[in-house]
Amino acid sequence: MDMETDFENRMVSAEYLPEDDGDNPLRPRTLGEYIGQEKVKENLSVFIDAAKMRHDALDHVLLYGPPGLGKTTLAAIIANELGVNFHITSGPALERPGDLAAMLTNMEEGDVLFIDEIHRLPRTVEEILYPAMEDFAIDIINGKGQGASSIHLPLQRFTLIGATTRAGQLSAPLRDRFGVLLRLELYTPEELAKIVSRSAHILEVPCDEDGALEIASRSRGTPRIANRMLKRVRDFAQVMHGGAIDADTARVALNRMEVDELGLDRIDRRMLEAMIRHYNGGPVGLDTVAAVIGEEAVTIEDVYEPYLMQMGFLSRTPRGRVVLPAAYEHLGLPVPGQPEKKESYPEQTSFL
Ligand code: ADE
Repeated sequence: MDMETDFENRMVSAEYLPEDDGDNPLRPRTLGEYIGQEKVKENLSVFIDAAKMRHDALDHVLLYGPPGLGKTTLAAIIANELGVNFHITSGPALERPGDLAAMLTNMEEGDVLFIDEIHRLPRTVEEILYPAMEDFAIDIINGKGQGASSIHLPLQRFTLIGATTRAGQLSAPLRDRFGVLLRLELYTPEELAKIVSRSAHILEVPCDEDGALEIASRSRGTPRIANRMLKRVRDFAQVMHGGAIDADTARVALNRMEVDELGLDRIDRRMLEAMIRHYNGGPVGLDTVAAVIGEEAVTIEDVYEPYLMQMGFLSRTPRGRVVLPAAYEHLGLPVPGQPEKKESYPEQTSFL
């Protein structure tokens, strides 16, 4: 299997895959149904209520954080709670200023325009967005040079919701035009277990609490991964266990898919092991890591590293990436500078 297919087939990839979608029945439709991200929800519900009371559009919102945490879902919920239309596009899809102008002029009063991967918006398109966000108007330039004329086109008031994995890559003028900045965090295993139970219920798969927690704790803090794992575990459960998911079936299924008990898959382990074997655990430059495992540097930064850092397996230092002792222990390798553990010693008693 080549590297690219490896990534595409990656069970724990937080990237969006076609199977995640359709008119996804697992997606919550209201803030009440949305599990986790408590701080974000609390703030949002105040802003939504206030905008509705004023009969005004909600201020522009920037959602940022690692992939797979529900940014698109949350944007659709905001539109639903406001009772307005939801228009969806993405930075790379808006190639020319005219693409954005067409969307903006089609919107009704108070509608939500969602731009995913807004950090990938072409500069020429971004420049149209500034007056649209600030003054609810766009200037369309016709022709070139001396004969050029511009048309000032007023728009309905609308709410832009931008989503990005990397707020730091946004230009300052764009970032400054968002009134509400919301950072989504990785979910706890308990929150993910609730999401898995909810999804199992919708899919009509029997799944007990321990089964849900087993899937949750291997989902690297990411609902998209948890829901995808649930579907694959369901397949195993059907063939092996009469269709019901418990901790045992989940464990067997996920082990077979080479996802370990902490949610690391082959690629994570290969990356950590390569850094340990070839570079003594680091520091190693990001581009070197990328070359060694055959992935793009941005993929490593956005998809692999956040979870490895959250687990205390990896740190980013000014001199490069460093593998931390917890990773050696997890991989069953001797920790450098520490005597190899042969057996556990009796607890030391205090002489004081
Ligand atoms: N499915 C994906 N994300 C979810 C969330 N945060 N709450 C409920 N269901 C979800």
